[in-house]
Amino acid sequence: MVNNDSGELNYSSFDVAAQRSAALENDIKVNPHKHRVLTGDRPTGNLHIGHYFGSLQNRVRLQNLGVETFVLIADYQVLTDRDVYKDISKYVSELAIDYLACGLDPMKHNTHIFPHSHIPELNQLTIPFLSMVSNAELSRNPTIKEEITASGQNIINAGMYTYPVHQAADILFSKSDIVPVGKDQLPHIEMTRTIAKRFNKKFKTNVFRMPVGLLSEVPMILGLDGSQKMSKSRNNTVMIKSTADETSKLIKSAKTDSERHISYDPINRPEVANLLRLASLCTGQSPESIAEEIGDHGAGRLKQVTADALNSYFHDIRQRRSELEKDRGFVASMLRKGIDEARAVAIETLSEVRKAMNMEIMS
Ligand code: TRP
Repeated sequence: MVNNDSGELNYSSFDVAAQRSAALENDIKVNPHKHRVLTGDRPTGNLHIGHYFGSLQNRVRLQNLGVETFVLIADYQVLTDRDVYKDISKYVSELAIDYLACGLDPMKHNTHIFPHSHIPELNQLTIPFLSMVSNAELSRNPTIKEEITASGQNIINAGMYTYPVHQAADILFSKSDIVPVGKDQLPHIEMTRTIAKRFNKKFKTNVFRMPVGLLSEVPMILGLDGSQKMSKSRNNTVMIKSTADETSKLIKSAKTDSERHISYDPINRPEVANLLRLASLCTGQSPESIAEEIGDHGAGRLKQVTADALNSYFHDIRQRRSELEKDRGFVASMLRKGIDEARAVAIETLSEVRKAMNMEIMS
């Protein structure tokens, strides 16, 4: 995704985004302290193992490399396509528990977990940012178009079209340069870069850093139906918080095929390959060699191996999770700490923005 200085925002160059991502990945290992990470999720429920292997594990990796990490809970963004306000505070707390259980650690590391609704100075950045993009650019965003179709609603609120601008505020307030995301978020990163660039140019400043979407290399994790991405709305998930028994039952119910000999063949045997990949992610052993060991013992053995691998991998995480569930006071204190730390950064950024925009009170 490129956009030249003079021109319109261009949503469509995946290769350019992938190159930027690879260059950044190399530098993170050498200079972790030069970088800052910001990532986020909408609080719409608990996280599943697809989220874990697709993004959480990578966030913990970056944190442990020593990179300052902002983990934003996008509670306002939930309003764009659903009506769940009654459950939001519960979901925020559940999400925080999943994060903490998986190893994001605000006590030990420079990590801040916070809901964006609690950072007024972040939200305020949305107002000048809205004037940095055109209506046409907002309505061309391919991810927004897909979400509108998926929502099935016939009245689309303005929050839906404008949340990428709000998301730019989520990212830019923190002066983060690394935004670990899936492919679907790249249009929003491109919008964020465009806003940063236009703002800096218009107000002759360098307040904003240009963030890069960090695309991690994770195999696609399919749901237990083996045919689609793991996703809560498709009812094909194993949750991080599932018990060992629930996990075994869920894996037993997973779709496989009728061939007894187990082999790793992602093209012709996607369901079997998916279970082998999950077992491989948990054990570090290659999917091919797991398949070889199972050999002629069939899908029953494959499922047992996979469930055992998941249960032993997630054992400690689940244990921590159940302790955290009993200590909501601690979870709330971690969120308050994250809010205070993020706010201090947001106040600083907003003050630089005011100065750049010539909006300070004259004396
Ligand atoms: N839009 C993201 C999603 O739907 C959530 C999100 C909000 C986010 N703000 C962010 C992601 C900032 C990365 C950075 O999953």
